[in-house]
Amino acid sequence: MKKMLSGIKPTGRLTLGNYIGAIRQFINYQDDYDLYIFIANMHAITVAQNPQELKRNTKDLIALYFACGLDPEKVTVFLQSDLPQHTELGWIMTCHSYMGELQRMTQYKDKTAKGETGITAGLFTYPSLMAADILLYDADYVPVGVDQKQHVELARNLAERFNNRYGDTFVVPKTLTPKVGAKIMSLQNPTKKMSKSEDNPKATIDLLDEPSIARKKIMSAVTDSIGIIQYDVENQPGIANLLTILSSLNNETIEHIVARYQGKGYGELKKEVAQVVFDFLSELQERYRAFMASGQLEEILRAGNEKAGKIAYKKTAKIKRKLGLNILK
Ligand code: AMP
Ligand code: TRP
Repeated sequence: MKKMLSGIKPTGRLTLGNYIGAIRQFINYQDDYDLYIFIANMHAITVAQNPQELKRNTKDLIALYFACGLDPEKVTVFLQSDLPQHTELGWIMTCHSYMGELQRMTQYKDKTAKGETGITAGLFTYPSLMAADILLYDADYVPVGVDQKQHVELARNLAERFNNRYGDTFVVPKTLTPKVGAKIMSLQNPTKKMSKSEDNPKATIDLLDEPSIARKKIMSAVTDSIGIIQYDVENQPGIANLLTILSSLNNETIEHIVARYQGKGYGELKKEVAQVVFDFLSELQERYRAFMASGQLEEILRAGNEKAGKIAYKKTAKIKRKLGLNILK
């Protein structure tokens, strides 16, 4: 069975973008791959976090993974900070990454371009840590939204660089992005990604939003004045986004939806999307509450940490040998 690995940062609350771009893929793949999903909390602290909130977001994230449909019998779920090999290999990867490479990473580039102050060194080097997360497990595939593609590219380059220098050590991973929904856009500014760190609550659908509030957010999503329902990202990004959300949640092709809406108005489309989102969130949150009440969280995490930890330990020992870091037998 091929290995697959992905992670999500427990910063803020999970959005519909996270579900459609990432989590939905994990669920589709869990039957056919040896799947490792982790909570990237060492990545979360690249920006300031409130410890209580971080803890709550971490638990919510785990519960939401399962509420969304991950099966604890099939996937290995673990917490990054519980396995010190991530940061250990992260450092090794940092020492094999070039400044130029990291300076080209969009997240860092965008923040510096905007003149943001207080950018930490961790935020600069975090793609090297992400490469470590992936390479530790010899993942063949990494399912992510498009915004993460560049980071997986770096992991590929680092794997090849390392293999060339020290002999075959790492599997070179491949990115998997969904055909539809790899980038869900903000409801208020549909040329921007829907993001957990968004300030305007009307712009995102959080997976834990009250369903009736989520309905209102869809109804007030920004569209355009063209008035025809068609999939045109360039000129009608708001409508394209609504079509993408509906297509993803309903498993219906965009073409099919567009055909259904011939001659109809935006109001009708919004109503349907709002209802589908309402139903999706209501069911999801019921499963979320049941999972939280079941007390399974710790047990699942312990089992996941143990299984992933064994792989990480063995791999790190091998890497250290290759680098000439160990003396004791
Ligand atoms: P993050 O929220 O940055 O921790 O991202 C976690 C995962 O969700 C990554 O695979 C992202 O690519 C994906 N993701 C985040 N936001 C979106 C979005 N708006 N649309 C699609 N995928 C997303
Ligand atoms: N950097 C990713 C994000 O911001 C999260 C992440 C960390 C990740 N390590 C990873 C995703 C390894 C896939 C594989 O969304």
